[in-house]
Amino acid sequence: MAKITMTVNGRQVSGVCDDRTLLVHFIRENLGLTGTHVGCDTSQCGACVVHMDGQSVKSCSILAAQAAGSAITTIEGLAQNGELHPVQAAFKAHHGLQCGFCTPGMVMTAVDMIRRHGSALDEAMVRAELEGNICRCTGYHNIVKAILAAAHEMGGVRQAAE
Ligand code: FES
Ligand code: FES
Repeated sequence: MAKITMTVNGRQVSGVCDDRTLLVHFIRENLGLTGTHVGCDTSQCGACVVHMDGQSVKSCSILAAQAAGSAITTIEGLAQNGELHPVQAAFKAHHGLQCGFCTPGMVMTAVDMIRRHGSALDEAMVRAELEGNICRCTGYHNIVKAILAAAHEMGGVRQAAE
């Protein structure tokens, strides 16, 4: 067992967990932040994506102990002052939500890809970057549209896929 401390959504948190506890289980079970989902046991689906020190990571592929001392942002930490993050708002506006199971991971992945690519982001890049995120609903079309719209909203210049 290990006692670990980290910053989650701007708040310092501590917890005791097994050395083998995955970050996703620490987030969901110790902290009760169930917006981060588990959709596979093969590190393929991306439903568990969070940001660790500003970069998107699959929280099912990292031990909680490895994240000790880091700053984690989960889907619960994106909205500020009651306002949805532009990526969340774009998913809503462009019907990228569907059943919602993959949405937290999609949104966290999208925020990071927009941060990294800024105005260079285009549809092909969005689709390539989403290879680590699986949606089991009706497909990726509206998700891609939402991400491109959010990139535009956040300062880039792109056309949404039609
Ligand atoms: S639960 Fe992490 S990739 Fe599927
Ligand atoms: S919206 Fe249902 S799995 Fe993606």
